[in-house]
Amino acid sequence: SLRAQIGPSILNADLSQLHSESQKLLDNGADYLHLDVMDGHFVPNLTFGHPVVKCLRSKIKEAFFETHMMVSKPEQWINEMADAQVDQYTFHIEPVEDVAAVCRKVREAGMKVGLAIKPKTPVEAVELFIEMADLVLIMTVEPGFGGQKFMEDMMPKVKRLRDNHPLLNIEVDGGVALNTIDCCAKAGANWIVSGTGIIKAQDQQAVMKQLKDSVTQ
Ligand code: DX5
Ligand code: ZN
Repeated sequence: SLRAQIGPSILNADLSQLHSESQKLLDNGADYLHLDVMDGHFVPNLTFGHPVVKCLRSKIKEAFFETHMMVSKPEQWINEMADAQVDQYTFHIEPVEDVAAVCRKVREAGMKVGLAIKPKTPVEAVELFIEMADLVLIMTVEPGFGGQKFMEDMMPKVKRLRDNHPLLNIEVDGGVALNTIDCCAKAGANWIVSGTGIIKAQDQQAVMKQLKDSVTQ
């Protein structure tokens, strides 16, 4: 059955304190960590890669790690991320020639498969591969930076997926916070990424609880 899951993005946290910032989010009720990997090519920004994720994993053994791979060659980092004990490898389909092959490799490496699409990519493009995926990520900003404005016009994509796939995990990412969560919930998203909306909050625990309550049916 569908469960609401709150996954803070640590992109706009104090990355010099990655471990303690992540642990604080988990202690305050995060269901998973959403780790934004950028290569400066697929998106116009750089963050971190598998060496950092592996170090974080060595400090945080239990939590569910999702890496959001905003990279031009997602097929290149599957084994490294599996070695870092990433639980779910969510990659963009736009730059990938053979999506099905990458899905298979991710699964063979022991990770769950997430398929992500940018705002300009039609939902039909990802629907072709849904049988192979554990989750679909509908971006609600252009990927690359935290703190951008939520694109409400992405909600029809979520709604269409939800109508056609009642049990699919559907994730939204970008500008999701207390003021936009109701749109996401109404459209049918159940995995909720929120970056600045949580990181900048005085009371992270209260915000994550409110986000989760908004999505819980
Ligand atoms: C954007 C990233 C998001 C981002 C979310 O490219 O994929 O995960 O950090 O941050 P907010 O919630 O601030 O938009
Ligand atoms: Zn993300």
